[in-house]
Amino acid sequence: MCGIVGYVGTAPANGTSSSRDHQALDVLMEGLRRLEYRGYDSAGVAVVADGGIAMRKKSGKLANLIAELAENPMPDSLTGIGHTRWATHGGPTDLNAHPHVVDGGQLAVIHNGIIENYAPLKADLLKQGYSFVSETDTEVAAVLLGSIYRKLTTTAGAALGSKGADSALTQAMALTARQLEGAFTLLAIHGEQPGVVVAARRNSPLVVGLGDGENFLGSDVSGFIDYTRRAVELGQDQVVTITGDSVDITDFFGAPAQGKEYVVDWDASAAEKDGYPSFMEKEINDQPDAVAATLLGRSDLEGKLTLDEMRIDPQVLKTINKIIVLACGTSAYAGQVAKYAIEHWCRIPTEVELSHEFRYRDPIVDENTLIVSISQSGETMDTLMAVRYAREQGAKTISICNTNGSTIPRESDAVLYTHAGPEIAVASTKAFLAQITATYLLGLYLAQLRGNLFQGQIKDILADLAKTPAKIAQVLANAAQIKDLALSMANTRTVLFLGRHVGYPVALEGALKLKELAYIHAEGFAAGELKHGPIALIEEGQPVFVVVPSPRGRDSLHAKVVSNIQEVRARGAMTIVIAEEGDESVREHAEHVFYIPETTTLLAPLLTTVPLQIFACALATAKGYDVDQPRNLAKSVTVE
Ligand code: F6R
Repeated sequence: MCGIVGYVGTAPANGTSSSRDHQALDVLMEGLRRLEYRGYDSAGVAVVADGGIAMRKKSGKLANLIAELAENPMPDSLTGIGHTRWATHGGPTDLNAHPHVVDGGQLAVIHNGIIENYAPLKADLLKQGYSFVSETDTEVAAVLLGSIYRKLTTTAGAALGSKGADSALTQAMALTARQLEGAFTLLAIHGEQPGVVVAARRNSPLVVGLGDGENFLGSDVSGFIDYTRRAVELGQDQVVTITGDSVDITDFFGAPAQGKEYVVDWDASAAEKDGYPSFMEKEINDQPDAVAATLLGRSDLEGKLTLDEMRIDPQVLKTINKIIVLACGTSAYAGQVAKYAIEHWCRIPTEVELSHEFRYRDPIVDENTLIVSISQSGETMDTLMAVRYAREQGAKTISICNTNGSTIPRESDAVLYTHAGPEIAVASTKAFLAQITATYLLGLYLAQLRGNLFQGQIKDILADLAKTPAKIAQVLANAAQIKDLALSMANTRTVLFLGRHVGYPVALEGALKLKELAYIHAEGFAAGELKHGPIALIEEGQPVFVVVPSPRGRDSLHAKVVSNIQEVRARGAMTIVIAEEGDESVREHAEHVFYIPETTTLLAPLLTTVPLQIFACALATAKGYDVDQPRNLAKSVTVE
């Protein structure tokens, strides 16, 4: 939520030009373009120029800021900060947009997060005679920082000495951060300190990018991926000061601290549209690769799984007696699929809980509980807080995550990375399939460790999984059929989705995709629940998607779902069925049937989800909506 970027370069030596020869504004705008998925209520930039600050900001999408810059160009500069906002405090207006410039036009500040104690701080600053022009908590932090900076550089100026004067902004930032409560990443530049960007973070993401004669800050690495793939993870409660040729990290009390350097294993082209009209379409089509990459290198030819990042003692994993999966939104639906697989393979009771509900209900968690958090971004505040709570209770924690170096895996005992590559469209698609894949690997690994399955059984399941990417590609090759249906339904007002067993979370995900992309009322139900109430919703022509399990599956699951199709059809529903190829039994009960390749019951979500994603994307596109940036949403929900 909110995209943040900072840059400091150094001027090339006379007569030379090099990669250092970047203008801050170009770097910031490129970074904001890549980070816009984190929020698009407003965008703004500020640079140090002519002993002061030059700033432009506009409400609305980045395009508005680009138009503003064309009309009112910025001066050249090598130092600057940029922000793209998802509004929390104060509406999405020009005044509430970041940066906030204070201290007589000398200090510019941007912020991601929520400062919980902004009200008493503001009251205190008002008493001291400071004034405010916006409704944001950010401006309170900016004014506080400005007031502390002024005190340091005037009254204490002599005591600071020459080195101290250079570090005044860093010192002021640390003192400010100590007074703030809540979650924040703050970036600041000052007209009196050209060539310096100072940042502080608590519970909110910030990564440093290391260049050659230039350094970067970003909410995530996509903020600077065009310039460098060398990144540094920051710890909790740290201040970082970047210049063109230095990166200094301290804690909030000025003690030196270390970041952890790593190399980003994808390049800028992975975050481009590759000729697709939207990131969403590209990411839906990336899914065979996302699943294949997540499986890659994690088992040998005998089907023996080795999960290198599983840093929890195998003896401990053998003794756990309960698993709780914690996640939000789409990731929580991946968790619901995981429950069916893990309980079936490992016989370990598995609960799935929305992270934001978890710690408020006094959950039963102890050292025999394994927490599996699932988060694409690795920064979702609700999930981070739930993981912290569980660790405090003594639980072991595993993070399933798509973002290297993000906070949740860092704060977990172990991590299982999904390798879906950067997911830019705000609504999750390829990360979802990669998450499901990773939970299968985890389930099989636990079954191997605890002896619940024979090695041959694990090998067979892995062989089925290995065939899945090609099967997803087959579903994608038939996209035209579902896109045509979506076009014909552009005026639909409500759609229902039904599924049983693993088809139930798929139905929930199908409904969520339609809500968030096409702004259509949609609901997912467990098919068996229908007769307990929701069937009253069915009237003539009501579109109902039904996810049908394999007819080769266990018990009477298939027959039960076919009965459910008949029940809604008898009441006038227009039934749209996702079924396994060769399943002719559904044809007579369906207006439309989409066939997916044969697979096992447990692995089916990797295929049945795909037509629902294509449907939502095509319907939203037909309605003229921006599928990459749906209204009111942002990727990476870093506030509670
Ligand atoms: C929906 C969607 C969200 C996220 C949720 C959790 O398409 O993307 O529901 O799944 O906000 O995000 P992560 O996985 O980053 O924790």
